[in-house]
Amino acid sequence: MEAVGKNVTQFKPGDEVFGGRDGAFAEYVCPRADRAVTLKPANITFEQAASVNIAGITALQAVRDKGKVQPGQKVLINGASGGVGTFAVQIAKSFGADVTGVCSTRNLDMVRSLGADHVIDYTKEDFAKGDQRYDVVLDNVPNHSLSECRRVLNPQGKYVMIGGGGPNDNRWIGPFGRLIQTLVMAPFVSQKMGMMMAELKKSDLAILGDMMQSGKLKPVIDRTYKLSELPAAIAYLEEGHARGKVVITVE
Ligand SMILES: NC(=O)c1ccc[n+]([C@@H]2O[C@H](COP(=O)([O-])OP(=O)(O)OC[C@H]3O[C@@H](n4cnc5c(N)ncnc54)[C@H](OP(=O)(O)O)[C@@H]3O)[C@@H](O)[C@H]2O)c1
Repeated sequence: MEAVGKNVTQFKPGDEVFGGRDGAFAEYVCPRADRAVTLKPANITFEQAASVNIAGITALQAVRDKGKVQPGQKVLINGASGGVGTFAVQIAKSFGADVTGVCSTRNLDMVRSLGADHVIDYTKEDFAKGDQRYDVVLDNVPNHSLSECRRVLNPQGKYVMIGGGGPNDNRWIGPFGRLIQTLVMAPFVSQKMGMMMAELKKSDLAILGDMMQSGKLKPVIDRTYKLSELPAAIAYLEEGHARGKVVITVE
């Protein structure tokens, strides 16, 4: 923390903090003290802390608020090796779930090491065609239709669409096509199907900070780029195959 406003009491210059806001690719950002910024646990690096905002919050809110994951429930995470997925696997495990992670061959060991009880290699097997049924599906890569996802859900299961833009999406309305489908389907199906939008919350950042401090959550950093290399970082992310998070460091 470089400076604080005159009414800010919970931080002081020199505090190590993490969090963020829109447009935060910069040496300095000016967040609101009561919004998405909190003290950084001493045992994690700034790079790890920087990776939490949005991806970690999305995973927490997907598991806890949308999926309402309970101990012992079977949770499938499609896209388990990416930014959101690597947090979601660990958070779902910390909620006591039996977690299945879907990823490609090269990421199977990494997803297992995060605590996944089962892994499915999407290059060899289609989870939507399997016999296993799940209580919650967290979908970072909506590459299956909603009916295919519904097929693998238990009758009272929940489908949470995190990533948008599936291959079958309408060209003009994009992911909103799936949202509309979930609304149309809702009265006729027993499962809960819906899309989520992460909400930056100080209290959730603090929860994630506590989980990292206690060793329950460890951010996975794929690559770090300097701020001056930002275009290369974005181009890498856009390839859609990050392993965990991509972090920008400030020189
Ligand atoms: N709703 C919200 O509030 C919210 C918040 C944050 C992000 N998002 C969205 O959520 C999505 C995921 O974000 P992210 O940051 O996790 O993305 P990411 O870091 O780019 O991760 C993408 C991951 O998907 C995996 N993947 C690619 N094709 C796959 C397939 N066919 N089956 C299973 N996994 C596959 C990749 O693994 P391989 O390399 O093994 O293929 C990669 O690890 C994005 O669409 C993002 O825009 C939504």
